[in-house]
Amino acid sequence: MIIIKSRREIEAMRAAGRVAALVLAAVGEAIRPGVRTRELDALAAEVMAQHGAASADLGYQPDPHVPPYPASICVSVNDQVIHGVPGARRLAEGDVVGVDVTVKRQGFIGDAARTFAVGELAPEAARLLEVTEQALAAGIAQCWSGNHLSDVSHAIESVARAAGYGIVRMYCGHGVGRSMHEEPEVPNYGRAGHGPLLQPGMTIAVEPMFNLGGHDVVVDRRDGWTVRTRDGSLSAHFEHTVAIGAEGPELLTLP
Ligand code: MF3
Ligand code: CO
Ligand code: CO
Repeated sequence: MIIIKSRREIEAMRAAGRVAALVLAAVGEAIRPGVRTRELDALAAEVMAQHGAASADLGYQPDPHVPPYPASICVSVNDQVIHGVPGARRLAEGDVVGVDVTVKRQGFIGDAARTFAVGELAPEAARLLEVTEQALAAGIAQCWSGNHLSDVSHAIESVARAAGYGIVRMYCGHGVGRSMHEEPEVPNYGRAGHGPLLQPGMTIAVEPMFNLGGHDVVVDRRDGWTVRTRDGSLSAHFEHTVAIGAEGPELLTLP
């Protein structure tokens, strides 16, 4: 069942989404060669607290066979796609760093991600980031009442195909609201004109994940969380929480 939010609930999600955006901006400012990913995590936790929000990631445990998520944000470097666990690793010039921030504020979730460059990137890495962000915009541009859900998926897929990138298929966008993951799933691929009709009050996280190489990914066996490309190629991830408004898409994760 897709939960339709009232105007009041959407405004509460916007307040949570704003904190996620502020955290993302603060972490982006702190990204430079030599910084450890756990320092970014500590900064994120501080900014959340300053704004009366808490991490929705910390302690998250969707599967009882996997340990609860041990940090406040996800930091995924280079071939890490998503769910990278912050730690002692130091960023280096030329790295790409996906930062995914999910906060809870007054009972509502904001979920946003962006992939940052560390210093100068190789041209193909820079292009991967640009195209993945374009795909997010193309997906959001389909978030109109009366469109089908798969129009969003198809728009994202079209951007990846034109560039020749691998689309991660194992993980998807999702409905979001009082819970981090609600129905529906929002795949980053699919034929247009299928699935549920979008309606005002639906709120979804749109989040393309593209690889320079193939689509296949593997989960780290030691930490149970970090998702990497199987072929070791670079990966990028951008995400916004979006409401379907009566007059078009409303971005809820803006600063
Ligand atoms: N932010 C992620 C998403 O976009 C989920 C976070 S997983 C966690 O759906 F383990 F970090 F919580
Ligand atoms: Co996210
Ligand atoms: Co998400």
